[in-house]
Amino acid sequence: PLVYLNGAFTPISEAKIPVLDRGFIFGDGIYEVIPVYGRKMFRADQHFARLFRSLASVGITNPHSKEEWLELIAKVMDAHEANDQMVYIQVTRGVAKRAHAFPKDTVQPTVFIMTNPITLPSDAVRANGAVCVSMEDKRWLRCEIKSTSLLGNVLAAQNAAEHGVTEAIQFRDDFLTEASSSNVWVFKDGVLMGPPKDNLILEGIRYGLIEELCKTNNIPLIARRISREEVFAADEVLLSSATKEVLAVVRIDDQTIGKGQPGPIYQKLYAAYQLAKA
Ligand code: PDD
Repeated sequence: PLVYLNGAFTPISEAKIPVLDRGFIFGDGIYEVIPVYGRKMFRADQHFARLFRSLASVGITNPHSKEEWLELIAKVMDAHEANDQMVYIQVTRGVAKRAHAFPKDTVQPTVFIMTNPITLPSDAVRANGAVCVSMEDKRWLRCEIKSTSLLGNVLAAQNAAEHGVTEAIQFRDDFLTEASSSNVWVFKDGVLMGPPKDNLILEGIRYGLIEELCKTNNIPLIARRISREEVFAADEVLLSSATKEVLAVVRIDDQTIGKGQPGPIYQKLYAAYQLAKA
């Protein structure tokens, strides 16, 4: 297995970055996680569009054309045995003397690509649904950027881990935002709802996919602010991400959601997801 770092393909143990890399010093970087099924990236165009958008929004020059990206990623994927993988891409602002503002001289962005076998939810969580904890969203107000500055998300995920549950569902001023590394959906009275695609959440690539799957499966969908009460009173709650695909939530804190088992809308969207990725 090889990784790509700044022009070279090497074993991961030999991939090294200088300590003054701004990704290390400031978390000054952008990343992507792309699922691969049968050696093909799923929703690649959307992932690249988001990568380019994230880079532009923080003023890091996109170091590669889309064709170059595809070529580099293909080489890393091909060096691995697994047919189903998750590609991780990271671009930082590069190496410079430590000062918060961008370096005045142009620096080369640091480019890193690795891939691992994809880790999907366990069969038990898939079958029985996920348990989550709720918490206040205390992250910054630029959550739409897929930044490597993830301390807020790390602390949320750690909170879930300490509770022995799958995810931490976050609320800002008692309105739903998202989980530590996934989007959250609420189904009630025949309508699926997702929080608005604004600066308070990362717009998952599965957000757009679920919009498409709802259209083809005649599931009404609206994006709007969703209160804490509405989440706990939902018929179904779902998570979505590259590695969770779509996943049912059956309990939050000590409260059962809906009937306490994966519901019909989950089943429908999960089946549609499996068809879409095939
Ligand atoms: N996380 N919201 C947050 C905060 C995320 O980190 C992610 C993805 C999502 C879902 O996005 P997508 O559908 O594009 O996976 C929403 C990835 C998987 C990660 O950080 O590993």
